[in-house]
Amino acid sequence: MNDKGKIMAGLIIFIGIFTFPFYSNLGKASAVPEPLLNTPVIKQMPVKQCVETKEYMRANHMQMLNEWRDMLLRDGIKTYKSMSNGKEYVISLQNTCLNCHSNKKDFCDTCHKYLAVHPYCWDCHFGPKEAGV
Ligand code: HEC
Ligand code: HEC
Ligand code: HEC
Repeated sequence: MNDKGKIMAGLIIFIGIFTFPFYSNLGKASAVPEPLLNTPVIKQMPVKQCVETKEYMRANHMQMLNEWRDMLLRDGIKTYKSMSNGKEYVISLQNTCLNCHSNKKDFCDTCHKYLAVHPYCWDCHFGPKEAGV
């Protein structure tokens, strides 16, 4: 093999290794986790709705949680009025969000794991006792 050949061989191996994680991720793309909504509280809801619309929540729940924290800790506001259904929700990650979404592992965590997001909130905030759902 001349130098050119070595470089080519090296390049091919390099590309192979470099793109492997990409290829191995392709398979997973078809298996986007569907966050489970089968918790006891949600099962009992006559109308299955979140604090805001599903689309809004999907896109904005992180900002919403930040706003909630600021509303409560900075401004002492204890409830949040929904823009979509007009209901008042007590501002609490643990007692509101995780009351309905008591399956944190199969809901929040599955989604975050898939997307490689790692909220650090649980260092301080308790997750729910994983109910047998
Ligand atoms: C270093 C510890 C710590 C971390 C990390 C942390 N928080 Fe908090 N958070 C607190 C404390 C303390 C309060 C005030 C609790 C109270 O007054 O009930 C609070 C209050 C809140 C509140 C309003 C009250 C409640 O019980 O929900 C929200 C919402 C909130 N945090 C969201 C978050 C989110 C979202 C994250 C992650 C992105 C996070 N926090 C990370 C310590 C922390
Ligand atoms: C009263 C019960 C209830 C509360 C409280 C609640 N949720 Fe939900 N959440 C639901 C239901 C039911 C759905 C599914 C809505 C639908 O399918 O239209 C949902 C959907 C979602 C979704 C979208 C899931 C998807 O498949 O895209 C996210 C994200 C979410 N919630 C996060 C939160 C967060 C964060 C909080 C607290 C700020 C919260 N939820 C509070 C019941 C609740
Ligand atoms: C449908 C998928 C999905 C579900 C379900 C979901 N999340 Fe998320 N979450 C995301 C995505 C995507 C991001 C990252 C958004 C970004 O970085 O812009 C995120 C980011 C966050 C962040 C900010 C983290 C950071 O470091 O910036 C918090 C806090 C959070 N989610 C809390 C929750 C909680 C609490 C639940 C369950 C009640 C939940 N999420 C359920 C998809 C989801």
